[in-house]
Amino acid sequence: MKKTLATGAILALLSAQSLMADKIKVGLMLPYSGTFTALGVNIENGFRLFVNEQGGKLAGREIEFIKLDDESDPAKAADNATRLSQKDKVDVMVGTVHSGVALAMAKVAKDNNNLLIIPNAGADALTGALCDKNIFRASFSNWQPGYATGLMAAQKGAKKMMTLTWKYAAGDETVAGFKEAFTSKGGQVVKELSLPFPQVDFAPLITEIANTKPDALFVFFSGGAATKFLKDYIDAGLKDKIPLYASGFLTEGALVEGVNTDGIYTTLHYADNVDTPKDKAFEASYKKAYNNAIPDVFSVQGYDAAQLLNAGLVAVKGDISNRAGVVKGMEDAKIASPRGEFTMSKAHNPIQDFYIRKAKGTKNISEGTIVKALADPARGCTMQ
Ligand code: PHB
Repeated sequence: MKKTLATGAILALLSAQSLMADKIKVGLMLPYSGTFTALGVNIENGFRLFVNEQGGKLAGREIEFIKLDDESDPAKAADNATRLSQKDKVDVMVGTVHSGVALAMAKVAKDNNNLLIIPNAGADALTGALCDKNIFRASFSNWQPGYATGLMAAQKGAKKMMTLTWKYAAGDETVAGFKEAFTSKGGQVVKELSLPFPQVDFAPLITEIANTKPDALFVFFSGGAATKFLKDYIDAGLKDKIPLYASGFLTEGALVEGVNTDGIYTTLHYADNVDTPKDKAFEASYKKAYNNAIPDVFSVQGYDAAQLLNAGLVAVKGDISNRAGVVKGMEDAKIASPRGEFTMSKAHNPIQDFYIRKAKGTKNISEGTIVKALADPARGCTMQ
């Protein structure tokens, strides 16, 4: 009897050891081509930075990356996510930037009981009607920056505004969040314009804005297209005539190299001078790792996606097969983010502060917060 017990204990120990020797497979499904390429790269850089700062291991487990270019193409998303889940058999999927692609990833994750960490895509349903114990977001819901910008536009005194965005989940939902806040403060949206993703033929829309003469314009654009929009808006002579109040993706760092964005006001959950010890250390470490590159909100979200995974793994001492324990660790996490500390809502979306930011050069300088601890309303989520 004694002997059997001892053998059992040794076997258990050996299997625990071999489990810890296996690498954890992280599937990075991100855009490495198209208008969101820089976003995908910065998310990956942020994620890897955190892992490297821990010596390449999270909770004692080595990390192996499998990369996939999702091209920000929703039509290919289900096949791509299924490949990571079924062929590569990743332990966790990390992705992506585009809301439509992320919605397809979430379906695959649900159907196959995969863990999914979203490092950008804001589709409200991911932590709303489609919320799930296995789905976590390290970034924001589209509603959040839209809502914060609506509050800011009202505070700046705009009364009649127009909106302009791409016609897809992120554009529609950011505008909806904006309208909710702006109209609650007495503002009026007089015209809503859009064009299909990822088109950049802004000229006819800019002409219509110039003719309508609203007090200000709300826009949601991001990536390479945001730079093109800013150039066109400035060339049309509108920057000083019809102020832009936008979610801050419009003016993020390197994207606006060579464009005079000075004076443009945006809101976002990150700014260049957050100036906490955590943010300063993050910026220094990022610059050192990536040839002096300045981190932006996307780098931060990648870094925090890794921090979130780490919180889950630490809770189970690296045993990722203990899914319930990993999920609990992530739900209880207090993430020491460069943006400021945040916690997860019951629907698994960050509860976080939003900054008012004024652009200067390639920087977005915080003028304080417009709203603190903003939680997405998680409409339709029954996990609460
Ligand atoms: C999205 O599609 O959800 C999205 C894309 C780029 C951003 C923000 C949101 O900067």
